Amino acid sequence: MSIDITGLTLEQKASLLSGGDFWSTKALPEAGIPSIVLTDGPHGIRRQTGGADHLGINDAEPSTCFPPAVAVGSSWDPEIARQVGAAVGREAKAFGVSVVLGPGVNIKRSPLCGRNFEYYSEDPLLSGVLGAAHVAAMQAVGVGASVKHFAANNQEHERMRISADVDERTLREIYLPAFERVVTESAPATVMASYNKVNGVYASQNRWLLTDLLRTEWGFAGAVVSDWGAVSDRVAGVEAGMDLEMPGSGGGTDQQIVDAVRSGRLAESDVDAAVRRVVRLAELPHTATGELDVAAHHALARSLAAESIVLLKNDDGTLPLDGALTIAVIGEFATAPRFQGGGSSHINPTRVDVPLEGIRRLADERGALVESAPGYAIAGGDDAELLREAVELAGRVDVAVVFVGLGDREESEGFDRTTLDLPAAQIAVIRAVATAARRTVVVLSNGGVVSLEGWHDEVDAIVEGWLLGQAGGSAMADVLFGVVNPSGHLAETIPLRLEDNPSWNNFPGEQGHVRYGEGVMVGYRHYETAAQPVRYPFGHGLSYTTFATTGLQVAVTGPDTAVATVTVTNTGAVAGKHVVQAYVASAAGPVRRPVRELRAFAKLALEPGETRIVELSLDRRAFAYWDIELSGWVVPAGGYTVQIGHDVSHIAAEQQISLTGDVIHRSLTLESTVGDWFAHPVVGPALMEGLSAGMTEEQRAHAEENPNDLKMVESMPMQQFLAFTGGAFPAEALDQLMALSRSEEAA
Ligand code: BGC
Repeated sequence: MSIDITGLTLEQKASLLSGGDFWSTKALPEAGIPSIVLTDGPHGIRRQTGGADHLGINDAEPSTCFPPAVAVGSSWDPEIARQVGAAVGREAKAFGVSVVLGPGVNIKRSPLCGRNFEYYSEDPLLSGVLGAAHVAAMQAVGVGASVKHFAANNQEHERMRISADVDERTLREIYLPAFERVVTESAPATVMASYNKVNGVYASQNRWLLTDLLRTEWGFAGAVVSDWGAVSDRVAGVEAGMDLEMPGSGGGTDQQIVDAVRSGRLAESDVDAAVRRVVRLAELPHTATGELDVAAHHALARSLAAESIVLLKNDDGTLPLDGALTIAVIGEFATAPRFQGGGSSHINPTRVDVPLEGIRRLADERGALVESAPGYAIAGGDDAELLREAVELAGRVDVAVVFVGLGDREESEGFDRTTLDLPAAQIAVIRAVATAARRTVVVLSNGGVVSLEGWHDEVDAIVEGWLLGQAGGSAMADVLFGVVNPSGHLAETIPLRLEDNPSWNNFPGEQGHVRYGEGVMVGYRHYETAAQPVRYPFGHGLSYTTFATTGLQVAVTGPDTAVATVTVTNTGAVAGKHVVQAYVASAAGPVRRPVRELRAFAKLALEPGETRIVELSLDRRAFAYWDIELSGWVVPAGGYTVQIGHDVSHIAAEQQISLTGDVIHRSLTLESTVGDWFAHPVVGPALMEGLSAGMTEEQRAHAEENPNDLKMVESMPMQQFLAFTGGAFPAEALDQLMALSRSEEAA
């Protein structure tokens, strides 16, 4: 079906550019254009049939709550993202939803961002690979995706008006690549323009973002939809490439579009282009097909959740719980689990697995006894009696498992946290239980990173469960008992102190601006480069088995590409999954680069004793930086080290390679420095020759003995240098050399 818009009036066309109601586009039956539904997203379907809102306040139809992005990020497994995407797509079809709003691929710039639970990682490659897998799988089912929130929406504080002030290299290297990958690899039906401004211009009316970059550079052919209520100047939005305003505006902005065309402020061709992109969405299936398979999707949600759990610490094989005869389960989160975040992604789950029940079931099968105590109240407050009871119980058992975490009050869409700390009453329970119990395991439920300081060393094991979706309770039990071997790895650093985070001085901004002053040094890029100690580094995650990584070989396959081959063996006694993490380190080029950056990864399943050879491709981008002078990606010639890490801080093997890279000659001007002139591969030697030809023997000897003389003037612009040399270089000789440098650049 292809819809022809040529016969439509301007009014009809403008009417198609905003929603008919909260979740639907307008129909134009006379032109054969149906209305379609767009709804949240991303880890389940929030189909509201009663009161509508974009903050998850009113209820929605029951649907499966799959693990949110924070969990999927920790799986480091595109297959998990793919399965979430496909399953959400199937549910969307059952509800007659054409576009599911998500996934969110924004970078976790600060651990305080209230919406970090909805984002994958602090790393753009990991975010992009997972987001692209989610989108491809969902769209393969026939449902459109809306990758969001484009762009630089990395906080909730003043999200509807703040300007994210980010330099272009940082945008290109950190905040845009995940979007770029999703767009170029998975062709999402829509991209959602975020609320915030990017460098002073609202994303929803930012032509550079929505047209120059998204469409011209990346080839995006779908429609741009506004975040709900993100439109400020509708006419500027159409001009910039913002096609569909959601939700509707009751016709007010449609009229503005009509008026702008009539008055000549807006070209009708811009309206036509937007309309064509919007009506193409109506080609997506929009009638309900298929049934929601509640039981099958719940079981799927359980297995996906188990793959996302990160075992942070496990002293003396405390876990799995297999050997324990008596187990205390402490903490209200064990009976009232927190498994999703608050806000627009809030799902009305079909059912919810309670961790305590899952633990009891597996303990029963093993003849172990389970007792429980609430320990604290999630709603807050100190309760001495609850604490006393928990400590008494902990003193009587083989192992105490303490469930702690953040409640809906502590984190949600709409606001950022101000601290990384767990509630004080929960910390008190951990510490008191750890003193009383023979062994203590802490299980965390949190959407954003929490501090482990003040109690980390007192407990034997720590399991980071993040928010795991509706079946997270049984998935956690599976991991605690070793039914599933944990294989999650941190997609974000756990710092020692909030102040260590590189965004600390510039978060959440002031007077309408948040300055991304740390540049590309986001998350681990900063911690590693500054050698700043952290509690657990990016990429960390333990297993119940052990793996050996050997035989790294890196083959250079072109001027700017390589392939790394590595052998991984499961050297332990149980089956498990291992993530091979490939980082690239380089000081090549004129810009300061992080000491290493994740450039490829792969997750593989290995039986005990099994060995597999893994090949990881390192494409041009793995070695490139964004050059602001050349407005492009550059792979500088030089040395690169390819490193395989257990995590970003612990390198298991490395190999140096040398790349010929790009041949770059920057053209010289009188503003170029003396150093630039001498360093130029063609002009430099010519200049040196000319200089030395004009010298006396004595001057030449002096220059050779005093190399520092040149160093002192190296950073001086040629123009200023000339003024001091009193005509040492005739103007026309310099003109010739500049022309030579320009022709070299063209070559
Ligand atoms: C959120 C989006 C969401 C939309 C619709 C907005 O407040 O930022 O992520 O898709 O509401 O609920």
